[in-house]
Amino acid sequence: MAKIGVFDSGYGGLTILEKVRHALPQYDYVYLGDNARTPYGTRSFEVIYQYTWECVRHLLQAEDAALVLVACNTASARALRSIQQRDLKGIWQQDGSDVRRVLGVIRPTVERVADYTRTKHVGVLATPGTVTSESYILELEKQDPTLVVTQQACPMWVPLIENGEHTGEGADYFVRKYVDAILARDPLIDTLILGCTHYPLLRNKIERVLPAGVQLLAQGDLVAASLTDYLQRHTELESMLDKQGTCRFLTTEQPDKFRQSAAIFLGDSHLTAKHIAI
Ligand code: DGL
Repeated sequence: MAKIGVFDSGYGGLTILEKVRHALPQYDYVYLGDNARTPYGTRSFEVIYQYTWECVRHLLQAEDAALVLVACNTASARALRSIQQRDLKGIWQQDGSDVRRVLGVIRPTVERVADYTRTKHVGVLATPGTVTSESYILELEKQDPTLVVTQQACPMWVPLIENGEHTGEGADYFVRKYVDAILARDPLIDTLILGCTHYPLLRNKIERVLPAGVQLLAQGDLVAASLTDYLQRHTELESMLDKQGTCRFLTTEQPDKFRQSAAIFLGDSHLTAKHIAI
């Protein structure tokens, strides 16, 4: 029997895990945060891919995950395609019969955008790594070629959140800076995608500076709904999954540090994580 692995470069994936567990509480989860090497968002393509594959491989090989959700936009944008098309096949799927799968968070997010936008002008707030990859632009174009997409890199948001400064006054400046910048570039935007799993922690501050008529799209519920649908359609994979409702946490950092920082994201200051070396 097997688990669902959830991976993020840091703590942001906990916002996705929370929604996924709420929607699918019956499964056994193992969360891996590469907290010693976060943030990924400002790193090169090669490094993001290497780190992501090392962590995903660990979940598949050492933790018995049959399904890994890459709950990080930067890693989904920079590494997912190579992992799905090359690495996974190279190790397990030479004959195409293995059911192991690795999924990301970008496709499930963009699939629903057309339901939200009326002007067809969409904004993406994300890390520099995600923005440079242009993955959102490519995926949104596939959904609807008439969409007008504007991206804005927000390099200060992840460090503010990881350092627990996202509720302070200092964060107000950087929230307004990036939101004003994207809306100045396209004033017709009516839907802004939070294209980073950390950003839901800034949701209240972002909403406060948004003009009327501009809505914010966070990923957690969209990803959870998409995964629910995926498991209903892939019964061969679903039937392999353990159903004890457990969740374990792994970190490349020290467990104490994980506990303190995870409390910012989940409001639970008692999480115990195991240190792993990748
Ligand atoms: N949580 C990651 C994302 O969704 C960004 C964090 C990082 O830069 O490592 O893009």
